[in-house]
Amino acid sequence: MRAFRLLAVLASSSVWLLASGQTDDACRAQDRTYSTETVPAGNHQPYEQMNPLVGTLSTKFYITVVNLTPHRVRLRNTHSYQMDTFDFGDVPQGRARQNTVKYRGTWATGDDAGEAYYYLDGTDKTFAVRVKSYSSESNPRRVVLDLSGMGLGQREYVFPGGETAVSLVVTGSGRYGFQASLRHGPGNWMRNMYDVIHDRPVRHLIMPGTHDAAMSKITNKLKSIGTESNTQNQGVSIYDQLRAGSRWFDLRIGSVHDDADAGVNKGFWAMHLSNELDTVAIGNTGESLDEIISEINRFTDENPGEIIFLPIRYLVGRFEHPDRGHIQWNRAVVNDFFSKLRGIRNRCPNLDTSTGFQNRPASYFMDRNDGKGCVIVLLNGHLDSSVPRESPGDGIYDIGRIGVRDHWSDKMHASDMAPDQVRNWRSVVRGSGGDDFGSLMIAQWLVTPDAVAATAYSLQRFAIEPANPSLYWAGVNGMDPEHWPNVVLVDYIGVQQRDRKAWDQLSAELYTLAVGLNLYMASENCGVSTRRSPLLAAKAARIAAAASSSTRSREGQWNGIVFANGTTLDDPPPALHPGRVEILHKGTVFDNGTVLEESISNPW
Ligand SMILES: *[C@@H]1O[C@H](CO)[C@@H](O)[C@H](O)[C@H]1NC(C)=O
Ligand SMILES: *[C@@H]1O[C@H](CO)[C@@H](O)[C@H](O)[C@H]1NC(C)=O
Repeated sequence: MRAFRLLAVLASSSVWLLASGQTDDACRAQDRTYSTETVPAGNHQPYEQMNPLVGTLSTKFYITVVNLTPHRVRLRNTHSYQMDTFDFGDVPQGRARQNTVKYRGTWATGDDAGEAYYYLDGTDKTFAVRVKSYSSESNPRRVVLDLSGMGLGQREYVFPGGETAVSLVVTGSGRYGFQASLRHGPGNWMRNMYDVIHDRPVRHLIMPGTHDAAMSKITNKLKSIGTESNTQNQGVSIYDQLRAGSRWFDLRIGSVHDDADAGVNKGFWAMHLSNELDTVAIGNTGESLDEIISEINRFTDENPGEIIFLPIRYLVGRFEHPDRGHIQWNRAVVNDFFSKLRGIRNRCPNLDTSTGFQNRPASYFMDRNDGKGCVIVLLNGHLDSSVPRESPGDGIYDIGRIGVRDHWSDKMHASDMAPDQVRNWRSVVRGSGGDDFGSLMIAQWLVTPDAVAATAYSLQRFAIEPANPSLYWAGVNGMDPEHWPNVVLVDYIGVQQRDRKAWDQLSAELYTLAVGLNLYMASENCGVSTRRSPLLAAKAARIAAAASSSTRSREGQWNGIVFANGTTLDDPPPALHPGRVEILHKGTVFDNGTVLEESISNPW
């Protein structure tokens, strides 16, 4: 009787809300699901683990689970065999948990195994994390993220190094549909959430960015000593960086000049130099400006509707032997440069510059060019007052047209960089009227090893071992609905396993994090979103709907398997779960402390 009356009251109050013109679509502070519960502290990779002699003997690894959903991720149970530590737990809403596994022996035995089973509170969705060893094969210690219980597939990962993590990012909701980091979603992720972000100012968007973006290869147009190990910052081209979600490209472009005649410009190239103005510059060249432009055009043709920022530094010339200082660009070089830039399609000429671009709503840019969006060129180099510094009629702007706070930690170790970055974005508040931070904050989530360390261990390893995995626990747990950066700038976007750079081998942690921070984290801040969080609103599932109407319809519904060796099964047999332990051996330890005295078949 009581329950019946309560229902009747609820029903009539929602009728009243509609009748009075209020909708259930308004953001309300009391609907917030973000959890402030304390989560266990995580661990950064100790530096000595980068030494192969130490790292290959490592027995300790992590599996980070990031929950950007309004549902608590609950651990149902675990069991493990020949593990000294198998520490998993719940992941509260909006938080991350770095789970620890420590193998009993240094060498993988083939029996070492463990499983952790999870469900998302209030839904019928489940997933499992499986840890399994294969003693006789390469990459013997593997982690399977099994999201087949959410219709999101399975993927076998390897740890990128000693005492490093494999990360899983999940976002969405029971109502909205779910998305996870096992593979990338649609290239035009901004357009795909137009409903959510269109009226937010750009300074309330969160997007991946790529550091030294066009250093995705070494092209040796300068005769210097920069190598792949110490000078290459990305594993994939600008085109694949765009597909992996990057929208802020740290480009450094210079012209290469004939050693005998400074007047002969041999072309515009991405460069990564110790200092572009030094007498002797150490570094190398990456992609050509022509390549960069054609890759951007290919992407925007295939994925219209995005906002893509191209901040460009350097803008000086260097001799092929870069040992005689820089060459200041004259009007002829600047004109050549601008005429190349005019080859970028979907530029946005004559934007209103009466306020910073960061203050304009996303739709101001996304709707331009008949909905194909904007590629915004922002010059930030060493052009002097004798040459044009921008050309608004061509969509080429001075960096001063957007208010930016770009924070570089200049630290060699992630354990120093991570707290410094978190402190920076926590020093301002988002979305609270007059206090709202007024600039676009770039968080450079990357480490800066000295030349000796970079040469010895490679920038790739610094990115995929200590730096990038730490974003998913230290970075995420340093955010909340009022505190986040706008651009998360990284090295080696998408690369999870060393030298796995083909598109299908990339992993979508940063892509999914950015989608989740816009959908979930910023939406729980009523100063950012006046509407109810899309993940809570009583509307039909958007992710599934968007996926089925897109040209790449399989992406939203894919429930296949990606193996660690790169083999992909799109339609696996339903019973195939790599890493699943069929027999729980005598000695298996459950999370409640029970130890099996006889082998049994796996009940889960
Ligand atoms: C990759 O691994 C899967 C599963 O272990 C195996 O079936 C497949 O044959 C392997 N493919 C290659 C090319 O080694
Ligand atoms: C511990 O967990 C196992 C597996 O779920 C279960 O079979 C067993 O009864 C539990 N033991 C206790 C003491 O709760």
